[in-house]
Amino acid sequence: MKVLLTGGTGYIGSHTAIELIKLGYDVEIMDNLYNSKITVLDSIKKITGVKPKFYQVDLLDKEGMDKMFAVGNYDLVIHFAGLKAVGESVKKPLKYYENNVGGTINLLDCMKKYSVKKIIFSSSATVYGDQGVAELTEEMQTGVGITNPYGETKHVIEEILKDVAEADEKFEVAILRYFNPVGSHPSGLIGEDPNDIPNNLMPIIMKVYTGEIEKLKVYGNDYNTIDGTGVRDYIHVVDLAKGHVAVIQKMKPGVLFYNLGTGKGTSVLEMISAFEKASGRKLPYEIAGRRAGDLAEMYASPKKAEKELGWKTELTVEDAMNDTINYLNYLKEK
Ligand code: NAD
Ligand code: UFG
Repeated sequence: MKVLLTGGTGYIGSHTAIELIKLGYDVEIMDNLYNSKITVLDSIKKITGVKPKFYQVDLLDKEGMDKMFAVGNYDLVIHFAGLKAVGESVKKPLKYYENNVGGTINLLDCMKKYSVKKIIFSSSATVYGDQGVAELTEEMQTGVGITNPYGETKHVIEEILKDVAEADEKFEVAILRYFNPVGSHPSGLIGEDPNDIPNNLMPIIMKVYTGEIEKLKVYGNDYNTIDGTGVRDYIHVVDLAKGHVAVIQKMKPGVLFYNLGTGKGTSVLEMISAFEKASGRKLPYEIAGRRAGDLAEMYASPKKAEKELGWKTELTVEDAMNDTINYLNYLKEK
């Protein structure tokens, strides 16, 4: 099966490429390298023995996309490409709608033109908004109370995909709602290496460790949670990558939805202490005020994915921390 990964040099795409190549899938990657580096392809080769064919194309470049699809003969697209910085999306909403929504429409146009009928989409737990309960299940209503344009783009794209599947009875869609991906490949050769300033917990912890950021600000310690700090469902990126492989086998005409998470919540202070244990060093932090738009606690119900896909997470936050340290050491030596 020939698979195109949009955004495939990025954090989650590159880990998924490895799992697919290991199982014999024919993988090609397109990315505009806005938030990833071309050297990721060499790391994929070191790990798998295969260097995927790469197109440096922007989703918004209709001509470039068309040229790629004209020769691609793809059976499936896994659509990772998108901008994901929540804070930036609040300041530059049009950039986010144009890139994420506009880019997806161009992609779907090409898929239609070249009769590619299967797509897996990287959605996010953010589409659930604030449900008033911590454990999130797939049948909950989505699209209400989303607090930023980034999250809105995920919801809008989900709706577009549903409409496209409605209009074409042969179209197969799988929408994967990721919880909080962390960690890196155990080889230490790839991981999260954003070009932009991170605003997620784990990349900030990494930059505090390397000294690029002085200390971590813990956004609030007065939530109604185990220790007052925010609780999230941190999923090891290799488990997340394997979730994509599991869903490929189950795709059929229509739309599938799955949460990809562990089902377990971890607080910010627990994350700090797990990182300190793995690194053997204290991580400087201070308690700051709550961050606007943050929820106290959320985690996935992973039951549907387990029952229908036979997939569940195998790795822990501790594994993620050890793999992250490995990766940081690799980046230091590089
Ligand atoms: P990433 O930034 O590492 O990877 C995304 C890739 O898409 C980057 O390599 C970037 O250069 C590329 N890209 C962006 N716009 C593009 C365009 N117009 N044309 C071509 N390439 C483009 O991010 P990631 O963490 O690997 O996330 C992958 C997907 O998963 C994204 O859609 C993201 O919104 C979604 N997601 C991520 C998280 C998370 O916390 N990492 C959580 C939920 C959902
Ligand atoms: N946090 C801090 N300090 C920081 C950064 C984060 O204390 O410097 C806390 C947050 O307050 C939150 C937790 O760490 O309690 C996780 O925050 P992230 O920004 O890493 O992740 P979020 O859960 O806020 O959001 C992320 C993505 C969303 C996605 C969601 C899925 O940014 O796009 O995961 O659950 F939708």
